[in-house]
Amino acid sequence: MTTYSAADAVIDQLKKKIQQREARVGIIGLGYVGLPLALLYSEKKFKVTGFDIDSRKIDTLAKGGSYIYRIAPEEIQAAQTSGFSATADYSRLTEMDAIIICVPTPLDEYHEPDLSFITSTTHSIAPHLRAGQLVVLESTTYPGTTEEVMIPILEKENKAGLKAARDGVFTGKEFFAAFSPEREDPGNTTVARPDIPKVVGGLDTQASELARALYGSIFNRTVPVSSPAAAEMTKLLENIYRCVNIALVNELKLLCLRMGIDIWEVIEAASTKPFGFHPFYPGPGLGGHCIPVDPFYLSWKAKEWDFRTRFIELAGEINTNMPYHVLASVSSALNTRKKSVNGAKVLVLGVAYKRDIDDLRESPSLTIIELLREKGAQVAYNDPFFPSVGRGRHYDLNMTNTPLENLAQYDAVLIVTDHTSYDYAAIVEQSQLVIDSRNATKGIASSKIVRC
Ligand SMILES: NC(=O)c1ccc[n+]([C@@H]2O[C@H](COP(=O)([O-])OP(=O)(O)OC[C@H]3O[C@@H](n4cnc5c(N)ncnc54)[C@H](O)[C@@H]3O)[C@@H](O)[C@H]2O)c1
Repeated sequence: MTTYSAADAVIDQLKKKIQQREARVGIIGLGYVGLPLALLYSEKKFKVTGFDIDSRKIDTLAKGGSYIYRIAPEEIQAAQTSGFSATADYSRLTEMDAIIICVPTPLDEYHEPDLSFITSTTHSIAPHLRAGQLVVLESTTYPGTTEEVMIPILEKENKAGLKAARDGVFTGKEFFAAFSPEREDPGNTTVARPDIPKVVGGLDTQASELARALYGSIFNRTVPVSSPAAAEMTKLLENIYRCVNIALVNELKLLCLRMGIDIWEVIEAASTKPFGFHPFYPGPGLGGHCIPVDPFYLSWKAKEWDFRTRFIELAGEINTNMPYHVLASVSSALNTRKKSVNGAKVLVLGVAYKRDIDDLRESPSLTIIELLREKGAQVAYNDPFFPSVGRGRHYDLNMTNTPLENLAQYDAVLIVTDHTSYDYAAIVEQSQLVIDSRNATKGIASSKIVRC
């Protein structure tokens, strides 16, 4: 049995390696979160190895290419010169000093957490784990995942009988474990990534210290919390806050539409209050990997504690209803022109879940397209980010991008995603009818516009 000073020596050594950029960083899951993180470490001259099971991603990166719109191939190539490479070979994890897990955490078909990506990744890490390594989970998940799911698998399945380091016990046969949530906001260029404070919750103070050192080398501020569960809950609070507030403005939008009040004007006016008000904006429904999904990780976990998270459920109900509201608005707008949805030619503008990004996940456009088709509309779409839309998690739309021309042929042009590249004045000018679910036509006066 070694003493605390031996533990200190191990920690100091790893910290020193981090400070001197000699620590090897392994990032598992090279998607929207993992790849930018790998590039950040590379920029700071760490030697980074990415791990992914998607061979197309590995091949693209090996050729110096990128599969994420906002990441230029040159950034990948620059990282490669700093030693970045990607592999599907988990045995290379033994070379790493720190392992960061960024795999998906979706909901299953019953709207319950699907932890299969985390568990399969953890099963794959375990045989290659070695003493003194730091393992950090970044995937958004319910409080308890790091301690109840990740650590038990690592402890049970590693070959050297290693345990996670816990305060007061250090035998030299430990690994360190922490949770640190990702806070990326795709498309948001107002805050530089290193300026986004990084919350860190280690299983013990040593793990926290190491995780803070690791993230402190790329982020300007780290925020320690007392446990992995507190860090997991922090991320969920942030996303639930958004989900609930978006639901609130979505509901108020429906009321304002009925009362003939412009909700956008109201939000703009309320935003002039210098304290106590933060604006949220209504839309055609929630999209993306986070806001429509993450709150339900908590409502599922809450049931274990005999607790119902009513705000989350109510917000979910309102937000889920928004695509149906858009459908009703299209139907009503066509009706005023003595037309029906059945047989109407409708062009949907924007399939990405939000402006100027190349991410389709959970996009309300997909639901809206499906609903319109179910009602007999002939639907086309235009989105500069998606030449085609094939099979998603729920839908098999099998559509290709329609050029933005000859707009007068459509009975309705429906704005679902307000990409900045669109010339909205020209779109209104050329169309018979424009239904705008995003206030993209703000300032344009035309009887052809129906705002919904
Ligand atoms: N995208 C965001 O803006 C965002 C923001 C904050 C948090 N998050 C969270 O971060 C996590 C990752 O999200 P993402 O958007 O990067 O997902 P993603 O789907 O873009 O990327 C995940 C990657 O993990 C890979 N992967 C899956 N199973 C694997 C395995 N067993 N081994 C190795 N690689 C595997 C996939 O091939 C994919 O490349 C999720 O929990 C998400 O909720 C995402």
